[in-house]
Amino acid sequence: MVILQQGDYVWMDLRSGQEFDVPIGAVVKLCDSGQIQVVDDEGNEHWISPQNATHIKPMHPTSVHGVEDMIRLGDLNEAGILRNLLIRYRDHLIYTYTGSILVAVNPYQLLSIYSPEHIRQYTNKKIGEMPPHIFAIADNCYFNMKRNSRDQCCIISGESGAGKTESTKLILQFLAAISGQHSWIEQQVLEATPILEAFGNAKTIRNDNSSRFGKYIDIHFNKRGAIEGAKIEQYLLEKSRVCRQAPDERNYHVFYCMLEGMSEDQKKKLGLGQATDYNYLAMGNCITCEGREDSQEYANIRSAMKVLMFTDTENWEISKLLASILHLGNLQYEARTFENLDACEVLFSPSLATAASLLEVNPPDLMNCLTSRTLITRGETVSTPLSREQALDVRDAFVKGIYGRLFVWIVDKINAAIYKPPSQEVKNSRRSIGLLDIFGFENFAVNSFEQLCINFANEHLQQFFVRHVFKLEQEEYDLETIDWLHIEFTDNQDALDMIANKPMNIISLIDEESKFPKGTDTTMLHKLNSQHKLNSNYIPPKNNHETQFGINHFAGVVYYETQGTGGLAGAAVS
Ligand SMILES: Nc1ncnc2c1ncn2[C@@H]1O[C@H](COP(=O)(O)OP(=O)(O)O)[C@@H](O)[C@H]1O
Ligand SMILES: [Mg+2]
Repeated sequence: MVILQQGDYVWMDLRSGQEFDVPIGAVVKLCDSGQIQVVDDEGNEHWISPQNATHIKPMHPTSVHGVEDMIRLGDLNEAGILRNLLIRYRDHLIYTYTGSILVAVNPYQLLSIYSPEHIRQYTNKKIGEMPPHIFAIADNCYFNMKRNSRDQCCIISGESGAGKTESTKLILQFLAAISGQHSWIEQQVLEATPILEAFGNAKTIRNDNSSRFGKYIDIHFNKRGAIEGAKIEQYLLEKSRVCRQAPDERNYHVFYCMLEGMSEDQKKKLGLGQATDYNYLAMGNCITCEGREDSQEYANIRSAMKVLMFTDTENWEISKLLASILHLGNLQYEARTFENLDACEVLFSPSLATAASLLEVNPPDLMNCLTSRTLITRGETVSTPLSREQALDVRDAFVKGIYGRLFVWIVDKINAAIYKPPSQEVKNSRRSIGLLDIFGFENFAVNSFEQLCINFANEHLQQFFVRHVFKLEQEEYDLETIDWLHIEFTDNQDALDMIANKPMNIISLIDEESKFPKGTDTTMLHKLNSQHKLNSNYIPPKNNHETQFGINHFAGVVYYETQGTGGLAGAAVS
């Protein structure tokens, strides 16, 4: 039996059976009658009779008002961690440490905690000297780099919309400020972000500014600790978004910005109208994005591109490519038969003529490559017509190819401005801080090959974390024969092995099936099932009609669709 008094804090195990079923904190309001009244952290009242209060446990004092470093929590379990983050969040304290790891909770509002004064306060301090803050992590990185002459790296992980990209920007901002030169190169490094976001971010249902690519920014510092350059690496842009968006989602920001921000005269030259005119932009039924001013953003992108040395000609070429994509998306196809074969025709329209002229090709040539497949065998050219369906897929693949290459070109162009290869004599004195900001874990109504890749990347990052925080640390204790209590942790290595490491893993089966001439979405699902149905991380379809399989990821179960162009094989081939 627990003896309680008014004002005491307790943990209540409600066993609600819901997904995140952990005990909740509560405070005793009344206990003078036979029953006890408590109010939980969500404001719900409960009446409990003290005799059978088995689901109630007293709360450790450290959990009552919260701690800055969760290592100090007396109740160090999931409930304790969640409550600590919750009560701090309610006080607008979004940052909390767990040892040297910073946990950030997205505030979804502008907090005045990032001013130059804050930067000054966090400069040259030890972790823990000031309240937890992203600037403290950045400062720690910078000073470790300088003091120990060793390169540093910050890994930012979290599900989509958690605040990874904003955190990356804050770290960059801090590093630029304390490197202290207000130099052109610092400005160039900072201005790379709006360009990358314009071409690589889009509104999704989870995040109005969701990164649809991963990036690793390596910032280079000279001997004195001033920024002297940077290098950006990009990973896996979600190209399918250029042709297809889910309801309430948008295509890449740059398209809407261009249509809102470009002068009428320029738009006329590109044959452009407004966003609702284009299939590729209107599919998600979502043209505007609350809180984003697309025309203002266009001005920002243009000025950032100037800072990064994009010439007017290059800018115009980019606009031509973007416009040609929109026109290609409006082409109209009609089914035909040609010598008893399914064929199709692109109807002659202003969209076709404009797309061809923007791509600097002849309209009939463009029409031909969009409606037939040409094979060259033993020096002989054979051309076969494409059905309407096939031709639409080819068109989309073409557009994805254009956009994907454009994105890579833009990143190269930015690197050409900010990256300076080290000269021989500075090679040993140059130091760097790397920032990894990838796309977060995702689980949509329909998940395709791209979600599988994204979640695989996150699974890898989690394993990196598990290795560093638990495995390597405990190995080190063993080596130094330090007495320690084995800590239970969930190792996701098995899931990772099943997705991509062990023979016959999921990715290799998909790859194999998409190359196999007779492979279909159904045969692929069949192979996945027979190979993995006994694996506890694999959830096979419940019956023969179901076309999804599930993976038990560290962050939750995700079902992947295998059928149609939204499915796995469709994305794998294109
Ligand atoms: N520290 C922060 N302060 C204020 N708003 C934030 C902060 N971090 C994130 N946000 C808000 O949340 C949105 C999503 O964050 P973002 O960094 O894009 O998520 P992720 O990169 O993890 O998908 C941002 O557009 C911003 O509105
Ligand atoms: Mg992001």
